[in-house]
Amino acid sequence: MSAPLLSLRDVHKVFGDGDTATVAANGVDLDIHPGEIVGLVGESGSGKSTIANIVLGLVRPDAGTVTFDGVRLSDHLARNERAFRRQVQAVFQQPLLALDQRRRIGWSIAEPLVIHRIGTAEERRSRVVELLRAVGLSPDLADRLPRELSGGQLQRVNIARALTLEPRLLVCDEAVSALDVSVQAQVLDLFLEMQDRLGIAMLFISHNMAVVRHISDSVVVMYHGDVVESGPTDQVCDAPASPYARQLIGSWLEPVVDTLPESHE
Ligand SMILES: Nc1ncnc2c1ncn2[C@@H]1O[C@H](COP(=O)(O)OP(=O)(O)OP(=O)(O)O)[C@@H](O)[C@H]1O
Ligand SMILES: [Mg+2]
Repeated sequence: MSAPLLSLRDVHKVFGDGDTATVAANGVDLDIHPGEIVGLVGESGSGKSTIANIVLGLVRPDAGTVTFDGVRLSDHLARNERAFRRQVQAVFQQPLLALDQRRRIGWSIAEPLVIHRIGTAEERRSRVVELLRAVGLSPDLADRLPRELSGGQLQRVNIARALTLEPRLLVCDEAVSALDVSVQAQVLDLFLEMQDRLGIAMLFISHNMAVVRHISDSVVVMYHGDVVESGPTDQVCDAPASPYARQLIGSWLEPVVDTLPESHE
């Protein structure tokens, strides 16, 4: 197999100290190969967002190594943060927070191109139209302000913005969780298309196991800061080795019909 694009080795992170200390990452190992989609799952507070933020250089690990493309993350950030940011993009859960409220949608989608001095004004405009279409939005929305869009539309704008620079790694932290099921499916298909067409790798965090199963090549399960299970998606979903993963995945994959009240005939 190819060398990993992203590697975490024995990554530790503790928040707070003494009685209030929380171990958010307890020796996490994780690899993402070029073009691979890795699903990261686990109950609330298990450390998923901490890992996402460490990968993005927003949280510094206490110990362990993070390498991207064979170079330590700290070196990327020290030497050429802009080049790193171009290659690693993120989509978070709160769509409104990520956008400049005073700027029109088209401006926000084109901004990464402006920052990185890519293309002429005309080329940027046509790229905005192309990206809006790719995420299932009308190009007319380019002239609107964020407050004029719905939550689902805004999240798709954020995804378009994250894809503008055709990153090598996309970190999605509950990026589709707030979207309607039909829009979710559309966005997941877009991610898979990007993986296929551009070879974009993804760290895909979600509490929806069906979504993770649909999109991921492999799955990592966290529990209280520990990786308790990892492997190819089918293996982790169909035959999880650890009791915790079995329980978590079992409860997530339960058919909805099982949770409906029994009918009394
Ligand atoms: N900046 C911080 N300061 C203090 N504690 C933090 C901080 N960030 C995270 N934590 C704690 O670390 C643990 C892991 O948090 P994290 O956000 O990584 O979990 P998560 O798996 O993303 O949860 P969720 O599914 O609810 O988003 C939690 O107990 C959380 O309260
Ligand atoms: Mg989280």
